[in-house]
Amino acid sequence: MKAIEVKKGIYWVGAIDWNLRNFHGYLTQRGSTYNAYLIIDEKITLVDTVKASKTNEMMSRISSIIDPAKIDYIVCNHVEMDHTGALPAIMEQVPSALIIASPKGVVGLKEHFRQEWNYKAMESGTILNLGKRNLHFILTPMVHWPDNMLGYLAEDKILFSNDAFGQHLASSERFDDEYPLDIVMMEARKYYANIVLPYSKQVEKALVAAAGLDIEIIANSHGIIWRKHVKEILNAYHEWASNEIGKKALIIYDTMWNSTEKMAISIQETFEALDYKTELLSLQHNHVSDIMTRVIGAEYICLGSPTLNGRMLPSMAAFITYLSGLAPKNRKAIVFGSYGWGPKNIEDISQILEKSGFDVVAKEKIKFIPTPEALEEMTTRIKAIIQN
Ligand code: FEO
Repeated sequence: MKAIEVKKGIYWVGAIDWNLRNFHGYLTQRGSTYNAYLIIDEKITLVDTVKASKTNEMMSRISSIIDPAKIDYIVCNHVEMDHTGALPAIMEQVPSALIIASPKGVVGLKEHFRQEWNYKAMESGTILNLGKRNLHFILTPMVHWPDNMLGYLAEDKILFSNDAFGQHLASSERFDDEYPLDIVMMEARKYYANIVLPYSKQVEKALVAAAGLDIEIIANSHGIIWRKHVKEILNAYHEWASNEIGKKALIIYDTMWNSTEKMAISIQETFEALDYKTELLSLQHNHVSDIMTRVIGAEYICLGSPTLNGRMLPSMAAFITYLSGLAPKNRKAIVFGSYGWGPKNIEDISQILEKSGFDVVAKEKIKFIPTPEALEEMTTRIKAIIQN
């Protein structure tokens, strides 16, 4: 397997995970890549590695340029094992290599691998000289782990951003001018919603730091590399991190005998009548990670489940666990559902949402099968709340 030149003397030596379909619960319909980069300078430097199962692919790409035993530095911008899994294998070949990471990265690497390797911790603003080039480090804690950092290669104007600006997308193409931009942007949006969303405040800080850099290329660690549309992805991150919401309502539900679905459709019609954009999303047909992508920009999140054994349906329990962990800020919620003799699930869902910071503005329940009158009463109440 060959390396691909990113800029003179700098190569992509990553791996393509064509068949990845699940990344800790995130549906990756298009697979993914683990991007590692090789810098040929007086000090041969590898920036990030790949998942352990893809070690051979990375090694063969490195070997197409140099003998891996010549590597001097290995920069670990992030400890998570999709970027460090190949570290033990490469350290066997170059046991004297110096591993560069943030202070928390060094701790994390020691806790992951329990090895007495050579480490150097870099603080924000420190510089590693590679010979003709200098790699500047900016710590970006909680984008999306405590150890995250960015590397900026000043002479080549390349930002090694690790997870930030990435997408789960496997392709033979490496650059954003070689692949349909709408797909890359959509996958970047999905990545943000499912991985980065809880850390939007920290993203804003990282964007402020990046604003002072002259960036020609964003060499991220998943998916397509940005070189033509750098401005567009930076603007998109500004928009997503700002958590702006518009007149959009998501109605997310599951149903047993279609009663909760009838409520869902009535709620959707209410929002549409008030000129909201709506999406009606059944948990039987939509993956939780695809629904999360749609949460970006939505003012209202409406969640519906019937009662099953005094609880919500398992599909709603799974979704609400995922949603409350990602905890989008500044959202209103409407909870609804049908019941037979005990509507406790409505309170259960509401409590989870409130604990996660949602403003639950309505709780609607209807016994057994909704009559037209019951639906009318419900939509009248909801309409009044939306218009308030
Ligand atoms: Fe791509 Fe947080 O690892």
